[in-house]
Amino acid sequence: MEPIKVGLLGFGTVGSGTFTVLKRNQEEIKRRAGRGIEITRVAVRTPARAQAAEGVAITDDFRAVVDDPSIDIVCEMIGGTGFARELVLRAIANGKHVVTANKALLAVHGTEIFEAARAKGVMVAFEAAVAGGIPIIKALREGLTANRIEAIAGIINGTTNYILSEMRDRGIDFATALKGAQELGYAEADPTFDIEGVDAAHKVTIMSAIAFGVPVQFDRAHVEGISKLAAIDIRYAGELGYRIKLLGIARRTEKGIELRTHPTLVPEKLLLANVEGAMNAVVVQGDAVGTTLYYGKGAGAEPTASAVVADLVDVTRLHTADPEHRVPHLAFQPDSLSNTPILPIEDITSGYYLRLRVADVTGVLADITRILAHKGISIDALLQKESEQVDGGNKGETDIILITHETVEKNANAAIAEIEALSTVVSKVTKLRMAVLH
Ligand code: HSE
Repeated sequence: MEPIKVGLLGFGTVGSGTFTVLKRNQEEIKRRAGRGIEITRVAVRTPARAQAAEGVAITDDFRAVVDDPSIDIVCEMIGGTGFARELVLRAIANGKHVVTANKALLAVHGTEIFEAARAKGVMVAFEAAVAGGIPIIKALREGLTANRIEAIAGIINGTTNYILSEMRDRGIDFATALKGAQELGYAEADPTFDIEGVDAAHKVTIMSAIAFGVPVQFDRAHVEGISKLAAIDIRYAGELGYRIKLLGIARRTEKGIELRTHPTLVPEKLLLANVEGAMNAVVVQGDAVGTTLYYGKGAGAEPTASAVVADLVDVTRLHTADPEHRVPHLAFQPDSLSNTPILPIEDITSGYYLRLRVADVTGVLADITRILAHKGISIDALLQKESEQVDGGNKGETDIILITHETVEKNANAAIAEIEALSTVVSKVTKLRMAVLH
């Protein structure tokens, strides 16, 4: 049988990695897919940069590749939500399957793209969009399909995990760790999407849709990054037996779905807490399977290409299948998506880490614990530093760190407002959320 023909849009890290892996493993891939998979055209802004794509027609005209009738699959590797959206929708309109690593595009425009693909009877495959080389989309969509998924919690941004590991290992602040990460190429020159949690939020938004059978709704996600995280909180969390990780969390509750990305205290005895450096890991809890964990490289040329090529094989195998016999894009049949609400952050339930600086006088702790008790918030752990151990404090002041049991976030916020109003409390309260994992 003739090889299936692929048009590659973009020849950066992921595009060139895909070309390399496909070429190196072509014989095995052909035996798996049932026919060869061949990149026949590459579109790139600067064709000179794609010289490694030997023997392939290279152009700077992206639309020409998308419109080429000989191309069966368009592989979108350019990123962003502008031109990439136009090209993906155009490829679909031309009846081509799409493979993409573009998390931002699917988190923001997924509903439009999947509907266009459904109407046209083509596939949009996106394993590489979440956690790079870890086959988490496959696991959620197919391997765990028997389950009612209860929760997902993932370290799904390698840049921030590397920075957090450096902050903890070396006791350095965020700015110093970021600078080091940039010098070593772990963080981009403009690291905003990574450090502010946007990249992780895109990925968990996609996972939430597949896990719970809801539309992709990035606009409802709560997004907090690590740029305001203080070194002292990493230290105090460590003293209490926790590591701080940037987690993307999607959780089913009776009231709705929690969809949130923020720094999170994870008990250090959990495997997830021990995922260090630029590695990724995702915990999925299902009612039948229990807790499962997926670990691997979340970025890089060949790990990401591993996911892209897996999608190319899937599409090649299912190319001739009736569209209704294929695995639905979001795991659930498109007419069976639910309208379960995504909860505003004030309505989520969590335990909290609270740090505050107080005047070291009689009764201050009693005042704080009374406020928490009035709100029905129970204390799980408490750490009070001796005044002389506190960094940058005035004489006679100390830090109190509390860990609470679970409560609704707006209840915690109300207690914090009352605590901050006490005359003996001399700082704002730093609030971090605890992982809800077992
Ligand atoms: N920038 C991402 C990370 C990889 O640091 O994990 C691509 O999503």
